Amino acid sequence: MFSRFVSVRPFVMFIAVIATLPALSVADTPQRSASPSSASPSSASASTEVAIASSLGAAGTAAAFLPPQSLPNNLPIPNQNGFAASWSTEGFVDLADDFHAPPGTNGRDCSNCHAVESGWSITPLQVQLKFLLSGGRDPIFNPLDANNPNAKLETVPERWRGYGMLLQGLFRRGGGVRTGAEYEIFSADDPHGLGTTTNFSFFRRPLATANMTLITGLMWDDRLTVANDGRPPRQGLFSQARGNITGAQQGAPPLDSLVNAIVDQELMISHAQVSIFGMGRLDSCGARGGPEHLATQQLVTGRWDLFDAWIGLVPGSCTTPSADRKRAQIARGQEIFNERQNPNGGKCRGCHNVVNNGTNFAGTLFDIGVSAASRRTPDMPLYTLRNLATGDLVQTTDPGKAFVTGKWGDMNRFKAPTLRGLSARAPYFHNGIAKTLRDVVRHYDEVQTFGFTHQEKDDLVAFLNAL
Ligand code: HEC
Ligand code: HEC
Repeated sequence: MFSRFVSVRPFVMFIAVIATLPALSVADTPQRSASPSSASPSSASASTEVAIASSLGAAGTAAAFLPPQSLPNNLPIPNQNGFAASWSTEGFVDLADDFHAPPGTNGRDCSNCHAVESGWSITPLQVQLKFLLSGGRDPIFNPLDANNPNAKLETVPERWRGYGMLLQGLFRRGGGVRTGAEYEIFSADDPHGLGTTTNFSFFRRPLATANMTLITGLMWDDRLTVANDGRPPRQGLFSQARGNITGAQQGAPPLDSLVNAIVDQELMISHAQVSIFGMGRLDSCGARGGPEHLATQQLVTGRWDLFDAWIGLVPGSCTTPSADRKRAQIARGQEIFNERQNPNGGKCRGCHNVVNNGTNFAGTLFDIGVSAASRRTPDMPLYTLRNLATGDLVQTTDPGKAFVTGKWGDMNRFKAPTLRGLSARAPYFHNGIAKTLRDVVRHYDEVQTFGFTHQEKDDLVAFLNAL
């Protein structure tokens, strides 16, 4: 298990710098409440943050009034393709709000698994870094998310093995087969010894808690989507936050006011890529990349148009010829995403149809082959399910929506997540099987037989990198 992580060692220093960014802005001032009006700016820490902001080239006119324990809006945070940033309607990204404060008993808070520097998800590199710095004792390493909570986790090697899935950014979820389900678990093959013929255990990536005003359903399998919930789905978000405090954070039932504050805080945040190495800003020359534009995006369907201004851009007309060729490529990728069809007439934006965000407007969940047996890695549990009416068998690593509804027709369906800020939060898909965005495109090319040319794949990846 260790050897598969050795190659990431050179990145750890790089990630360490990123991981310390929030810490740099921590001031020794008392915790503030969630209400923006009660924010009490501390000049000492504010000047630290302004210094960080200006050294990183953040725009942030509000930076001069920045409260303690916060980041300026649009502060660029590096990732493998360039920089991403968050933008809050509060005027700054608050790192002392209730989302970032542990109300539970085990030291965990929402930001353990939804971190600003990981695009509001968490990357395997960050989990590994936490392990290396704490010997596997950071609050994120809780038996709740061990491969098997009953395993011995006393020594460092035991923890390294026992949290092998978490070290890949995967969190354990599951439970019994729903009463009245149309299927039974015919057989279970779980290398971690937890999945049985009555109990599912599977592993999922944390969804990003940004761009939440543009979501239509909640959780990978829709389990917290409430019928006739508003947009944004406040009831679902409320029960999610409440459930996490009593569940993953092992806390007492919280006051409604606290849960509502957390929901408000989540809904303030937009997150997207702001620049690409060697090319520059994604809002240059009329384009509309970055989180600030995204914050004004309405929840509507239609073709994506972030990079329309770069369609057919003449090299040298915006900045340098090579940067402009890259811009034109991103615009070509956007067009492929919008219009390119597979043999069944499917298009990327057919499912990812909420404009410039990529959730599904109707809240429909889809099976795109991610939990198929053929995609299983040896460390994933595999289940053979039998349809009680027809006797049909299907093998899956995670039944998705069928886990929640018990319906055979919902087998392997998952929600279409936000596609913004992707560069900050690899790996992709609910079980992390796509390590890069190129792997994502390869997956679609294989499963949905798009028949992309090399050039089309490059263009599409350039576009996804820039979201
Ligand atoms: C121990 C890790 C962990 C902690 C702590 C955690 N989450 Fe999550 N979160 C996850 C995972 C994993 C998922 C996806 C699980 C799934 O869909 O089955 C998720 C999903 C979500 C979603 C669904 C997003 C969407 O697009 O559907 C929201 C909202 C969310 N978390 C908010 C929170 C809040 C608020 C807190 C703190 C109260 C929190 N999370 C704490 C791991 C965590
Ligand atoms: C049939 C509907 C459908 C089509 C067509 C589709 N997607 Fe998806 N997409 C989904 C669903 C559902 C998921 C989540 C699947 C999962 O994780 O199990 C997803 C996930 C993704 C992700 C990973 C997001 C993350 O945070 O992990 C990316 C990137 C993506 N799609 C890009 C594309 C591109 C590019 C195309 C066109 C080549 C495309 N999609 C076509 C439904 C679709």
